Amino acid sequence: MRIIVGITGGIAAYKAPELVRQLKKRGHEVRCAATAHALEFVTRPTLETVSEAPLYCDLFAGNAHGTEHISLKDWAELLVVAPATANIIGKAASGIADDALSTLLLAMAPERVLLAPAMNSQMWAHPAVQRNLQQLKAWGMRTVGPAEGALACGTNGPGRMAEPTEIADAVANGERKAVGGKWLVTAGPTYEKIDSVRFIGNYSSGKMGFALAEALAEAGADVELVSGPTHLTVSHPRIRRTDVESAREMYAAATALWPTCQGAILSAAVADYRPATQADHKLKKQGSDGMTLELVQNPDILATLGSSKQTGQRLVGFALETNDELQNAEKKLQRKNLDYIVLNSLRDAGAGFGVDTNKVTILSADGSRTESPLMSKREIARLIVQEVT
Ligand code: CTP
Repeated sequence: MRIIVGITGGIAAYKAPELVRQLKKRGHEVRCAATAHALEFVTRPTLETVSEAPLYCDLFAGNAHGTEHISLKDWAELLVVAPATANIIGKAASGIADDALSTLLLAMAPERVLLAPAMNSQMWAHPAVQRNLQQLKAWGMRTVGPAEGALACGTNGPGRMAEPTEIADAVANGERKAVGGKWLVTAGPTYEKIDSVRFIGNYSSGKMGFALAEALAEAGADVELVSGPTHLTVSHPRIRRTDVESAREMYAAATALWPTCQGAILSAAVADYRPATQADHKLKKQGSDGMTLELVQNPDILATLGSSKQTGQRLVGFALETNDELQNAEKKLQRKNLDYIVLNSLRDAGAGFGVDTNKVTILSADGSRTESPLMSKREIARLIVQEVT
């Protein structure tokens, strides 16, 4: 593979020549790009000697038009930024290109970037850094590390750059985290029949569930998509689609598939109730006194899968809450025996039913929380898949 190792200004830059050496040993062609600060930690002759190529660190040197970042981007199959400081992570998440390496980073497709973050633990824990990383991952960038251990600043904690061998392994592992096995996804609304021409439905478009199915398939999983009525289409060959209409049909399809699946993400907006009787003909108006429709409860698909979950199976639900959101989502996570619950925020403009964007908080059974920025449903889906698989 043709790889650019991008080095930024952190103490771990001293390990960059070793990474270059290991990548070359594994048969890769390597070039280096560095920021001015990186060259405070590691020298140009070292990097040029180990890579056997000129170093790229000045937008205009050797190329009066300043277009080397474009030719390098076309040359490289992968850009590994090691170490990646909080600064370069912040710049990449904001699209800032103010030197040779950040300009190259902006020119590269995110799926062709691997970041090896390295910084002090407190910087690592800062919400700005975490938010920026979530954004970069959602765009398709991969990360490796950081590890926990003694840091150059004299403290202990997460922030150490992954070892060169581990970074070289992550390069070999190719794409983003691969997902194996078969995954079940439910999507869209359900229609609960009143008579031959009327139903009770909801505004769910199915976009979130379809994006999840695509993201899982892209990551390598075989996907069983059980969908309520929607106009959406699927494009990935590893997605098998079963169309259903009512909650009971969705229940039958999902419970039959569940024992064969590694995991399930239930994003469908399932009607909690259905009419007690369903007429085969069109009901006629009766008098002028109004009408009462008797409703009975539908089975809870998510809770049923939760109660029959086997060791090793992962179950992910969605929650749409309007008050005490986190508390209610946590209760639901426990009650339905889930591993993760994705909380949709209805309070944010641009999140929720029908629209192309969403903003979520992913809560895990072990108590951790990941908050996403407002992103496209496609990006949210990738983030969810990376978190829950
Ligand atoms: N769900 C399901 N089957 C149902 C109802 C809900 O599989 N009959 C799933 C949804 O796909 C989603 C999650 O459960 O993953 C949403 O659960 P919840 O918000 O509990 O739905 P409600 O049952 O409507 O919850 P509430 O008690 O807040 O009304």
